[in-house]
Amino acid sequence: MLEKIEQLLQEIENLSVSSGDEVERLRLRYLSKKGVISTLFEEFKTIPNEQKRAVGQLLNKLKSRAGQKLEELKRSFEEGGDEEGVDLDLTRPTGQLRLGARHPVSIVRNEIIGIFSRLGYTVAEGPEIENDWYNFSALNFPAEHPARDMQDTYFIRQDPAILLRTHTSSVQIRVMEEMQPPIRKIFPGRVFRNEAISARAHCIFHQVEGLYVDTNVSFADLKQSLFIFARELFGEQTRIRLRPSFFPFTEPSGEMDISCNICGGKGCTICKYTGWVEILGCGMVDPQVLANCHIDPETYTGFAFGMGIERVTMLKYQIRDLRLFFENDVRFLKQFQGAI
Ligand code: DAH
Repeated sequence: MLEKIEQLLQEIENLSVSSGDEVERLRLRYLSKKGVISTLFEEFKTIPNEQKRAVGQLLNKLKSRAGQKLEELKRSFEEGGDEEGVDLDLTRPTGQLRLGARHPVSIVRNEIIGIFSRLGYTVAEGPEIENDWYNFSALNFPAEHPARDMQDTYFIRQDPAILLRTHTSSVQIRVMEEMQPPIRKIFPGRVFRNEAISARAHCIFHQVEGLYVDTNVSFADLKQSLFIFARELFGEQTRIRLRPSFFPFTEPSGEMDISCNICGGKGCTICKYTGWVEILGCGMVDPQVLANCHIDPETYTGFAFGMGIERVTMLKYQIRDLRLFFENDVRFLKQFQGAI
């Protein structure tokens, strides 16, 4: 029996492990109730008395040495977490991952970009801080003209004006100054207006602007493009109608309504019992605007349109209060899980 214990002592000195699980397995093997050492203690009871002293001493030594050694191994393992032999199983399943959700404004913006990119449009962006030229003058808003009051502007400086852009139409100018037709682009972005915050209005919101300039671009092209867009976004049954309107940078100008996607045109509170809801402004780019950007209005024509993303999102998802978009209430945001 002495020999056997000596052998085990040796074995224990030479132990090495490569994982925390292995330390545990060794502990069970040597030190558990049914482990090797307990078995030896059982055997110890049966040996002749004269051997008991020597064997007992060695057996106790084995037990305490095994305890120490395993403790050492365990500790070396815990400390050397980033060394070789790390117990890190990257294939192990995790707990349930909590997925976030994309913001509904982002979902709809991406969808709008997707639809227009299939029609050959590419995306451009412009700055949120603008000067008077890009936000107003180049877009044919005459100085001191009441048209400027259509949009309550946040001025950073008055003279010369630096302001937060009130619409993404400013990007039309930036793009047309930079390149000659053919131009087929959309401009998504954030815009700012000095508006009282309510269920229908906010001082910060998002727009997507579109611009198409080439030879022979007609109002029919505008109408057909917007019709395709409306059906893609709101469904095949969607009808559109254009009403005459006024914007300084388009002539003629229009506003587009879609058949109410809630009641299908029968009349409900969303469409105020008219069967139609307004979704965007549009028109043929005013020749003066083309000229302001050094594009020859004798050669080229174009159309433009602009829409509020929050407004479109409210219609698409039947959201009744625009403030929800900015309050970051997870109960609201969670409802868009899974949408991209
Ligand atoms: N910029 C306009 C607004 O914010 C929307 C708009 C109307 C854009 C007509 C256009 C357009 O490009 O042609 O109210």
